[in-house]
Amino acid sequence: MKTAKIIIDKYFLIGKADDRIFGSFIEHLGRAVYGGIYQEESPLADEKGFRKDVLALVRELKVPVIRYPGGNFVSGFRWEDSVGPKEQRPVRPDLAWQVIETNQFGLNEFAEWSKLAGSDIMMAVNLGTRGPEDAKNLLEYCNFKKGTYYSDLRRRHGYEAPHDIKLWCLGNEMDGPWQIGQKTAVEYGKRAAETSRMMKLLDPGIETVACGSSGLMMPTFGEWEYTVLNECYDEVDYLSLHQYYGNRDNDTKDYLAGNAGMEDFITSVIAICDAVKGKKHSKKQIDLSFDEWNIWYHSEEQDKKLEKWVQMPHQLEDVYNFEDALLAGSMLITLLRHADRVKIACLAQLVNVIAPIMTSDTGAWKQTIYYPYLHAGLYGRGTVLHTLVSSPLYESKTYGETAYLDSVCIWKEDTEELTIFAVNKNLEEDMEVTCDLRQFNGYQIVEHLVLFHEDLKAVNTQADPDRVSPERAGISKVENGIFYTVFIKHSWNVVRLKNLKDQP
Ligand code: AHR
Repeated sequence: MKTAKIIIDKYFLIGKADDRIFGSFIEHLGRAVYGGIYQEESPLADEKGFRKDVLALVRELKVPVIRYPGGNFVSGFRWEDSVGPKEQRPVRPDLAWQVIETNQFGLNEFAEWSKLAGSDIMMAVNLGTRGPEDAKNLLEYCNFKKGTYYSDLRRRHGYEAPHDIKLWCLGNEMDGPWQIGQKTAVEYGKRAAETSRMMKLLDPGIETVACGSSGLMMPTFGEWEYTVLNECYDEVDYLSLHQYYGNRDNDTKDYLAGNAGMEDFITSVIAICDAVKGKKHSKKQIDLSFDEWNIWYHSEEQDKKLEKWVQMPHQLEDVYNFEDALLAGSMLITLLRHADRVKIACLAQLVNVIAPIMTSDTGAWKQTIYYPYLHAGLYGRGTVLHTLVSSPLYESKTYGETAYLDSVCIWKEDTEELTIFAVNKNLEEDMEVTCDLRQFNGYQIVEHLVLFHEDLKAVNTQADPDRVSPERAGISKVENGIFYTVFIKHSWNVVRLKNLKDQP
């Protein structure tokens, strides 16, 4: 058996994790909205057409914030089409995904649904085919109280109270050649600055996110970030990052090392943000919004065969297997380890489209990646401790030397709880792990959840929804202030401890 050590110190803090790093994303794409969160004719829906089974699974996740309505979709979106009496809403071709958009679910329905889900909205504006004026109008419709054209239009549509949306994305992936209205970095940076300025003149309480590169692999990565920020540094609050992984070569060891790429991406973007800060002699810090992260590759082949210009196709419907859950867990660990600079992150997406929740006309179920996302959202809120991991290494084809053990510890000082998240990436051997917890006097194990399956390719389906699901099976103990555990081979672990000293 391999051995490893986790080293923490209660005075050595990364910082409090912003709750918004457990966010997600709903785009008008495939069956995310229609047939996902909304299905008017379904017996599983409420009187508004919201799928009750889906809402129950979303509520369980306690998603703090959901990005909407895209994604690529937003770059051709006319928000006015999606509000007002449903029978008057136009049916439009959506050029981003080459499907038909009926607009039967829109902005106000999403605001209502989000309230029921217990989530805030992160709204994206269209900077592909539109610009600052339309973004300002949309903000006026959403956030202005009353007495102006767009705020009164909202009230006439039946929404007296403003939606009060605090977080706004300035377009989506504007560097991508696939994006409707792709821009150069200078063009986009100027447009982002103008848009953010106008929006903040109307509502100074909002925060805005400028588009970073669509991924670390973009040839313009780095240059794009620097140039965009150079144009809009003073006007925006966050810079976005997007990244997806896939086990295309069926090399699981390499695949599971993928969060090392995410790590490089984050540290590089922080460096660029701070370089622009230095160049501008600015006191302001730009933080990161990792507003699209996930695994996306299983559906690539089937999506090539999709018919165009239909409604709600089965698009981007990745069926996630057990090894995907391990990488999702490691990506969450990486996000938490950067909680001092990553303030927002969105698992892309939430329902049916590269999502933790899948639906059919007769039910909804949890995909494998649901579990690490659930656990991080429930037990990862608190102060992130600098977590040193002394672990044996392996050689990954793409990322070089990689630690078998990924881990991060979260401390909730007020309730005296400590959570250890860990992934053992070793495909053959269990790992014996210790951690000196003498500073956490009285802390004992509350539970040790383990997500494990012998078959790395095991999936959950509607017929067999619990094939990959967590068990309270972990072997952990605290003796004389030392924590001992075994993280079994290829497993996701959540160890929860609490100060039980004064408990009866
Ligand atoms: O999440 C799916 C798509 O991935 C989004 O629409 C786009 O922003 C990204 O390329």
